[in-house]
Amino acid sequence: MISREEAQHRISELRVILEENSRRYYVDNAPTMSDYEFDRKMKELESLEAQYPDLLTSDSPTVRVGSDLDRGFAKVAHRYPMLSLGNTYSISEVEEFAARADKSLDSDFTYCCELKFDGTAICLTYIDGKLVRALTRGDGVVGDDVTENVRHISNVPEVLKGDFPSEFEIRGEVLMPFDAFDALNAEREALEEPAFANPRNAASGSLKLQNPSEVAHRGLYCTLYHIPSQSGLGFETHDQALSAAESWGLPVSDTRKVCRNISEIEQFIQYWDRNRKDLPFPTDGIVIKINEMACQRSLGYTAKTPRWAVAYKFKAERALTRILGIDYQVGRTGAVTPVANLDPVFISGTMVRRSTLVNQDQMELLDIHLDDYVYVEKGGEIIPKITGVELSKRSSSKVPTCPTNCPDCGTPLVRNEKEAKWFCPNQDGCPMQIKGRLLHFISRKAMNILAGEATVEQLYDAGMVKVPSDLFCLDKYQLLSLEGWQDKSAQNFLDSLQQARTVPFERVLFALGIRFVGETTARSVARHFRDIDSVASAAFEDLTRVEDVGDIIAGSIYDYFRTPSHLDEIGRMKAFGLQFAVKDESSQISDSLSGKTIVISGNFRISRDEIKELIVRNGGKNSSSISSKTSFLLCGSKPGPEKLHKCEELGIVVMGEDEFFGMIESLPDAGQAVTDVEKELIEPTLF
Ligand code: IVH
Repeated sequence: MISREEAQHRISELRVILEENSRRYYVDNAPTMSDYEFDRKMKELESLEAQYPDLLTSDSPTVRVGSDLDRGFAKVAHRYPMLSLGNTYSISEVEEFAARADKSLDSDFTYCCELKFDGTAICLTYIDGKLVRALTRGDGVVGDDVTENVRHISNVPEVLKGDFPSEFEIRGEVLMPFDAFDALNAEREALEEPAFANPRNAASGSLKLQNPSEVAHRGLYCTLYHIPSQSGLGFETHDQALSAAESWGLPVSDTRKVCRNISEIEQFIQYWDRNRKDLPFPTDGIVIKINEMACQRSLGYTAKTPRWAVAYKFKAERALTRILGIDYQVGRTGAVTPVANLDPVFISGTMVRRSTLVNQDQMELLDIHLDDYVYVEKGGEIIPKITGVELSKRSSSKVPTCPTNCPDCGTPLVRNEKEAKWFCPNQDGCPMQIKGRLLHFISRKAMNILAGEATVEQLYDAGMVKVPSDLFCLDKYQLLSLEGWQDKSAQNFLDSLQQARTVPFERVLFALGIRFVGETTARSVARHFRDIDSVASAAFEDLTRVEDVGDIIAGSIYDYFRTPSHLDEIGRMKAFGLQFAVKDESSQISDSLSGKTIVISGNFRISRDEIKELIVRNGGKNSSSISSKTSFLLCGSKPGPEKLHKCEELGIVVMGEDEFFGMIESLPDAGQAVTDVEKELIEPTLF
């Protein structure tokens, strides 16, 4: 048995590790530890606390539910706490669960076995058949109000049918089906934005988008699996409650099964362990629930989990395969990424041929040698990841080294002090970077020019296009001289170039491909400075004043505009008529705030810059401090206490967001609110 002192030391170590990973999982949506490893560490902590109960504190992660609270949303208390499930990876522990229930319960009972859906938990409230509220789990006691976002999930009904109760809560999971996940990541990768690590993180990231209408494009899907027994709706069994929910038009999975004994439970587990790969959405286990509501009530809850349910989790699928070679890919920013070519291997439904090795540090950490056999896991079931080397099969002592020269143009690579990646500094001459930038420039969210990779390759190879502004010099005669072009395709292409001249400034700024400047940062910067010359001449400190622009992004923008070739290129684009200023014609929307001086405080469902813009465009004036001249304080979530205090002192009205939106005539295309893309953009790796 471990000594008390050692236990104390290990307990505090485990708590730190678990807290940190819980934050990465729930808040950043970018976990760095596998679920299996996380659960193993949690079990280790539980067992140490069981050995030394006096070391168990109420803030230990073993008794607290992980928190996914996000500052951008209003907080609402759950009517009944939203708990987690006890989980296990072993059938014998499922047997122990069944034996415990058998021992505690006097009456006969059955089990309802369900899939464990791998998404993010949601709690819906319907009153008089209408959806009134959707909350995330949050910390289990208080959740984020994501109602408006959930209204954009297509299979969540706004209005119920049939004989529904006048008021009830139902809980379930918001999922991202595999095809929606693939499409989303393909789009992000094309924009060189970091891909989501798995559909679960993509689902919870999407549910927390600040712009509800953007949620509709994420292809989210909801499945409901729990009506809290405290609701008192009088169902005899959980299974009946779910059938009733289905009859009210709610999405309930038909994969559940009522089992009478442990052998039926095991059959259910085995069936889905084999067949879950054919499901269109991710699952990570099976949930076994005592079916009879009376039995559930008698078993009750611990502080964190119900005693009437347990989750059996599937192990992430892992395969052993050989590294055939390592490629070094150069992205549009010049970053060089090592990618392993693998002897093709089938894992969780797909053939895996390649896997990123992220960077040199990661390769050293894994101690990869040439020709090694490596374990490939599908983290969160989707992106293949090399997790280790099988040393017994090692045949080479050679360690792969990152090339010292660019694999594409031969220029010596450089590495910045704080970065793990090597870069090709030959920005203007490296073909991979040039083509990467052109592809980014024409992409849908940037200039939306009708062309793809093959066209870029062709135009570049023919020496016709090297920088984006060259596109605007092309004429039909030149295009028709290229293989495969016809009058119609050439005309369509030229028309889309013409159309690109009307693309708004914020997208042009994004299209420039400034490092770390994603779509949303570009929007904030454009709205803040209003024209390119103001951005170009802004001091570093001015740039950091833009909402959500930190030192790294500000530094990148600052450097970009200190590079003469970039300024020349912008000059050419200006000459071709691209938009380099925010258009003013549509500026004034109404005079509903005319004569009003408004101070804002806190976070809103759209960005603070957008709120300020709305104030001005509706005839109001925005001011930063409260005085007797202030008409009202527009208050979002987490307002500054001093401002609230000052308002109280001076008797100034404090107004909520909804009331404000009601006051202004319309919410014009308030644009897409600032999301957490920036946060993700500065994450160094894709995994
Ligand atoms: S029942 C009182 N059923 O797994 C607990 N949960 O790891 C009620 N989950 O927080 C939850 N599929 O987000 C239940 N069929 C299912 C589930 C399920 C996925 C999630 C849920 C829960 C987590 C626990």
